[in-house]
Amino acid sequence: MARRPFIAGNWKMNKGPNEADELARELKSALAGNTAVDVAVAPPSISIPAVAARLQHTGIQVAAQDLHPQVSGAFTGQISGEMIRQLGVAYALCGHSERRALFGDTDVIVNAKVKAAFRAGLLPVLCVGETLEQRDGGQVEAVIEAQLSGGLEGLEADQVAAVTLAYEPVWAIGTGRTASPAQAQEVHAFIRGWLGRYPDYVARTVRIQYGGSVKPGNAAELLAQPDIDGALVGGAALNAESFAAIVAAATA
Ligand code: PGA
Repeated sequence: MARRPFIAGNWKMNKGPNEADELARELKSALAGNTAVDVAVAPPSISIPAVAARLQHTGIQVAAQDLHPQVSGAFTGQISGEMIRQLGVAYALCGHSERRALFGDTDVIVNAKVKAAFRAGLLPVLCVGETLEQRDGGQVEAVIEAQLSGGLEGLEADQVAAVTLAYEPVWAIGTGRTASPAQAQEVHAFIRGWLGRYPDYVARTVRIQYGGSVKPGNAAELLAQPDIDGALVGGAALNAESFAAIVAAATA
């Protein structure tokens, strides 16, 4: 059975509640005809209530950009999966490269966040990807393998099957430099092969998104690769028209 394409927009630290509501309103109309692609947007957490309300009954899901592993407690500035879930959020990004590089999210922390997402009833989107230095050093597979085994540690096969993976080479994020379709497919195929350690249905079911400077102009050829099941979009997700064009490319 073919995997259903999944396009997600990561708004990062852009769009406060007012602007987020406006973008959600535009997305609602731009994507009104979509039935073939799973779509989610990840606004800053403070904008989630406005976006979730605006997108109710549209089929466009809301994702959190991050979550704290604990349910509650003395963790100033943090938000738990359980709190996020109260807003009707469906997904949580875990281990985005900016979290790893700027906020100290190690594989152990990312794994705790993946587990916390499941505990709260959220579906994790686990992000993995190598830096340019690691690629040049021939370490792509070792890095991805460590992030996968660390991030998915201790999960049941059924849980792994419900995870979305996002392969985002760090050197392609926000740089305008995309992995070529062949480069991306090579890593996606490696990831799917790695999933072969679980029962067969897992590798067949898991959706692997590509992320890193995905734009309307390059989405179709990336999404045409056999192991690329969707995209995690940053910059191009901040504009309804370009995001909708990427969603449309997933059905081509
Ligand atoms: P970008 O970001 O599309 O702006 O490169 C992708 C991401 O960080 O998820």
